[in-house]
Amino acid sequence: MKALIINCSPVKTGATAKIAEIVNDELKDRYDTKCICIDDYDIAFCKGCRSCHKTARCVMEDDTLTVMNEFEEADIIICVSPSYWADIPGQFKSFIDRCTPWCNTHEPHAKIKPGKKGYAIALRTGPGMPECERIIGSIEHFYGHLEIECAGHLGLTSVEYKEEVEPRKQEIIEFCKAV
Ligand SMILES: Cc1cc2nc3c(=O)[nH]c(=O)nc-3n(C[C@H](O)[C@H](O)[C@H](O)COP(=O)(O)O)c2cc1C
Repeated sequence: MKALIINCSPVKTGATAKIAEIVNDELKDRYDTKCICIDDYDIAFCKGCRSCHKTARCVMEDDTLTVMNEFEEADIIICVSPSYWADIPGQFKSFIDRCTPWCNTHEPHAKIKPGKKGYAIALRTGPGMPECERIIGSIEHFYGHLEIECAGHLGLTSVEYKEEVEPRKQEIIEFCKAV
């Protein structure tokens, strides 16, 4: 079984990356894991042209398809996203917008293989969980329209830098046990 872990932050060595690393360490004995960072891909903004509503394809060619090929390969997908202004980072939002060819609200639409499970981990610096829930909601909304089963989520508040992840390691390990 293959697990795709996505650092949805543009920061490659920050708190989000550290959480993704812990998840990878916890899953690698049970899954064939792959970690990617959304910022390593060239993904242009969606132009909202809606061509994909008729063709199930995007008019632009970039790394969106490369990332979706990683989704296709994976049995489980774990998106780890920080809060940027109480929402997912722009790079990740751009990717989701560009997944509109795969969105099941229009026909025809592109499809990935069924039976995949999706997990969401959100983190933020502030203390309140509702903001993490909003991030989780965005990720699970995306999973839903790709017909990826939402299988679990974790919110981590009061985390800014990677040094603040280590004291939260047990929470992440417990979450991983259910994956
Ligand atoms: C541009 C930007 C906006 C942020 N906005 C929020 C916010 O609205 N609420 C919050 O709790 N934390 C916010 N944060 C803090 C991040 O969620 C937090 O530092 C997280 O650990 C960042 O992980 P990263 O360094 O891996 O991207 C923001 C950070 C940045 C860089």
